[in-house]
Amino acid sequence: MPQSQIIPVRAPNADYPIYVGAGWLDALPDLLVQRQLTGKVAIVTNTTLAPLYAESLNKRLPDAPILTVPDGEQFKTLDTVRSLYDAFIDAGLDRKSVILAFGGGVLGDMAGFAAATYLRGISFVQIPTSLLAMVDSSVGGKVGVDLPQGKNLIGAFKQPEMVIVDTDVLQTLPDIEWRCGIAEVVKAGFLRDLSLLDARIYRRDNAVEFISKAIRFKVDVVQEDPYENGLRAILNLGHTFGHALEAVSKFQWKHGEAVAWGIVAAARLSQVQGLCDPDLPYRVESLIKSLGLPTRYKSYKPADIRAAMNTDKKRAGGRVRFVLLRALGDPVLVADVPDQRVISVLESLRE
Ligand SMILES: NC(=O)c1ccc[n+]([C@@H]2O[C@H](COP(=O)([O-])OP(=O)(O)OC[C@H]3O[C@@H](n4cnc5c(N)ncnc54)[C@H](O)[C@@H]3O)[C@@H](O)[C@H]2O)c1
Ligand SMILES: [Zn+2]
Repeated sequence: MPQSQIIPVRAPNADYPIYVGAGWLDALPDLLVQRQLTGKVAIVTNTTLAPLYAESLNKRLPDAPILTVPDGEQFKTLDTVRSLYDAFIDAGLDRKSVILAFGGGVLGDMAGFAAATYLRGISFVQIPTSLLAMVDSSVGGKVGVDLPQGKNLIGAFKQPEMVIVDTDVLQTLPDIEWRCGIAEVVKAGFLRDLSLLDARIYRRDNAVEFISKAIRFKVDVVQEDPYENGLRAILNLGHTFGHALEAVSKFQWKHGEAVAWGIVAAARLSQVQGLCDPDLPYRVESLIKSLGLPTRYKSYKPADIRAAMNTDKKRAGGRVRFVLLRALGDPVLVADVPDQRVISVLESLRE
């Protein structure tokens, strides 16, 4: 199995590579030169990752200031972006400068948004450090921040100059974050790449293989629909249910866990809608369970979860849409599902 891969991405304005493998960070200075990124470099990271990685980043790029923001979704705000603009000015960043975003999805979205808007946009390199950021948020060019009214309400499309996925950094990733990332990888399996539906592949020493498959899947979908006008909607498998559970739990449920549960719910709804064989929901549920991800919820009311779907911003023209499965690897978008069917699925998954 190849230990290192370069995945090319065709984006609307330019092409760029995604480097996937163990040890790519060692090549960081050379990769910047290869991509003709010769301006001043600043690294943006957070208060969790800085103590772990600042020294090794410093060794590789001794002249690059390391700008640190607080860790957590609650800091994915315009206030933090504003503090980054100040730090960019203090560091003397100009239009030729390059921002390296070193962190999980929160950090990448926020540093990317700062890079997209500072001086009307400067170069930006993604170095995702969580599994979710490697396979999901760093692919597709969406960057942004939250508002008190909702997540990701402010944002832009901003393509990076390159993405560096160094699987060595996964050694410090907490197990719960690992499982949450796996949820988005198996999602790619249920949507298209059936080789991702084997629980045995999800070992840390096998990360390069399944991460590159999940990235290739997302790259394919995003290339077909870069501005999210159609096909990209299938990436929301498990998310209509998942976002609703996250919201009702007041974000006690983590995104990846809620999505994993949401895929189980989507599979059940697919059967209730008469779209798939009766064994599909069982296969989906047993895989999710064997990965240590949740398949049931407690305490919340089905009607409240259903109601929370109405506020999900991904509604199509005011209607709640579900990504359902006709078979493994064969998704379909469905609107106008009778409420009672959704509620009955929710009731069946309550512990
Ligand atoms: N732009 C997109 O297309 C897109 C897609 C999906 C999700 N997102 C966004 O991504 C965010 C979620 O990303 P996430 O799941 O990576 O969460 P996160 O960025 O909060 O990271 C999870 C935690 O793990 C820590 N961490 C990350 N890498 C680590 C490492 N190597 N070692 C030790 N700790 C590490 C982080 O500091 C954080 O505490 C959300 O804000 C979501 O909206 C964006
Ligand atoms: Zn997701």
